[in-house]
Amino acid sequence: MSQRPYVIDEMISAKSIAARIEALCHDIRETFPKDERLVVVGLLRGSFVFIADLARELSDMDVEVDFLEASSYGDGMESSREVRILKDLRGAIEGRNVLVVEDIVDTGYTLNHVIHLLKSREPKLLRTIALLDKPARREVDFRADWIGFEIPDEFVVGYGIDYAQGNRNLPFIGKVRFTEEA
Ligand code: IMP
Repeated sequence: MSQRPYVIDEMISAKSIAARIEALCHDIRETFPKDERLVVVGLLRGSFVFIADLARELSDMDVEVDFLEASSYGDGMESSREVRILKDLRGAIEGRNVLVVEDIVDTGYTLNHVIHLLKSREPKLLRTIALLDKPARREVDFRADWIGFEIPDEFVVGYGIDYAQGNRNLPFIGKVRFTEEA
C-alpha cells in the first residue's frame, strides 16, 4: 500500500505510560470488589499492548481476559461513525464485574456503542478505561471512567495503535508527521 512519507515524533514515553498505568491500577483496585473475579475486556486491535500491561499490573487480582472487536478506522485516518461488532466476547458478563479497555477515545462513537451493548447484558459493575483521550474530536457525549492521557487533535501511533496497520509495536506513543504535502 502506498503512503505519504512520514516520520514519528515521540509524544509519550514508555516510562511515562508505565508510571501512569501503575497509578490507574490503584484506583481500579479500589473500585472493584476484591473477592470477585474481574473480566477485563480489550477492544481489538488497538488495546492489545495496553491490556497486557494493565492485566499484569493487576496480578494481585483474580482477572479474566476477553476481547471484542468493533469496526473502526479501517486503513485510513477517519472514523467510520457507524460501529459494527466484528468479534463478540467469548464469555457471558451478566452479573459480573467488567473493565472495558480501549486505546483511544476520539469521536466517542466506538465506546459509546460498545458500552451500550455491554450494559444491555446486565453486568454487575461496568467501568471503562482508555489510554488516550482526544476531547477536541468528540462527537458523542461519552467519557471513560479512567483516562491515561488527554492529547491534542493529532494522529498518533505506537503502544498497540496503528496507522494503516503499521507501527503498533512501537513501545511509546508517537505523533505522525507527514514530510510531504498531500
Ligand atoms: P472513535 O469511535 O472515533 O472514538 O474511534 C476510536 C478508534 O479510532 C480507536 O479505538 C482507534 O482505533 C481509532 N483512532 C482514533 N484516533 C486514532 C489515532 O490518532 N491513531 C490511530 N487510531 C486512532
